[in-house]
Amino acid sequence: MAARVACLPGDGIGPEVMVEAVRVLDALGIEHAEYPFGGAAIDALGTPLPDETLAAAREAEAVLLGAVGGPQWPPGACEKGLIDLRGALDVYANLRPAGTLVIVRELVGGLYYGARGTRPDGTVFDTCEYTPAQVERVARRAFELARTRGGKLVSVDKANVMETGRLWRRVVSELAAEYPDVELKHGLVDSVAMWIVMHPEEFDVLVMENTFGDILSDVAAGVFGGLGLAASASLGDGTLGVYEPVHGSAPDIAGTGAANPTAMLRSLVLALEHSLGEPEQARVLEAAVDAALASSPTPDVGGRATTRQFGDVVLRALAPAPTVGSSR
Ligand code: NAI
Ligand code: MG
Repeated sequence: MAARVACLPGDGIGPEVMVEAVRVLDALGIEHAEYPFGGAAIDALGTPLPDETLAAAREAEAVLLGAVGGPQWPPGACEKGLIDLRGALDVYANLRPAGTLVIVRELVGGLYYGARGTRPDGTVFDTCEYTPAQVERVARRAFELARTRGGKLVSVDKANVMETGRLWRRVVSELAAEYPDVELKHGLVDSVAMWIVMHPEEFDVLVMENTFGDILSDVAAGVFGGLGLAASASLGDGTLGVYEPVHGSAPDIAGTGAANPTAMLRSLVLALEHSLGEPEQARVLEAAVDAALASSPTPDVGGRATTRQFGDVVLRALAPAPTVGSSR
């Protein structure tokens, strides 16, 4: 029988932050199993997304993913596993909370999935493509999310230049009639990038194309404390979700014990909430991580704790207090 949670540690700091998530799963009594993914899977099995890993991901209730990639593999080789996994599971809505805002990034279309190649004259091309249905389903998700939060949605595009931008704007505008309780605004991606830096507090929910969301979510993470803090949930139409930090494999700090496991643990919070049906455990873990951030921050957020020390503080906060009079 498949484990409830499929853990895909990946490369670099991926396995280092995954260990802390696994210790939390053990403490919460949630069954999990680990599968090869990314560069580690290329080395062991010759492919970044082995069949066994994809099958386990399909059967799990939630997939927890560390990060992939590194200088020792050809560019894009590990990331292909990530792109293929997201496509195979059709997790089209990638929710990336940062501070007071949430970016909803379309995850299985757009520039990262369109036609690509090299022409005889040496021209290399990537194309951005969307069907109206692809835009509609992710926009719907964003309207519904906005409804449960501050009721404000900014749809981000490049409608002044791109055909897909004009399609995006038309589809989102048409949907707005179904969500009269949500205040919709449209913004061009370049100016929204500036506004996120200058006035992040003005945003609630933002929805956008795959590549735009990849870039703006790193910008938003930077504005709200850095990549070590930024979690994400990738959701489809069912309850299965892929939960992973926004950051990559951070080869510059891998092996030093300096990785901040917050983004990974906050991704687990999202998994407890959206896929595992454990909203109370989600709140408890969220509070434990916030407490650890305050008392034992890692170097990226101005402290000196190691990944393991941070995890220890989280685990202590999760453990039930010993009963008075108990002998140990
Ligand atoms: P990165 O996100 O790995 O690192 C950027 C900077 O943030 C580095 O200075 C790193 O030390 C720091 N950082 C990231 N996460 C941190 C954490 N948890 N704690 C403390 N500091 C942290 O991006 P970079 O360096 O551009 O890419 C490294 C590799 O990761 C590349 O091979 C890239 O393709 C891959 N990548 C993989 C992703 C994924 O698996 N989802 C996403 C982004 C990049
Ligand atoms: Mg990214």
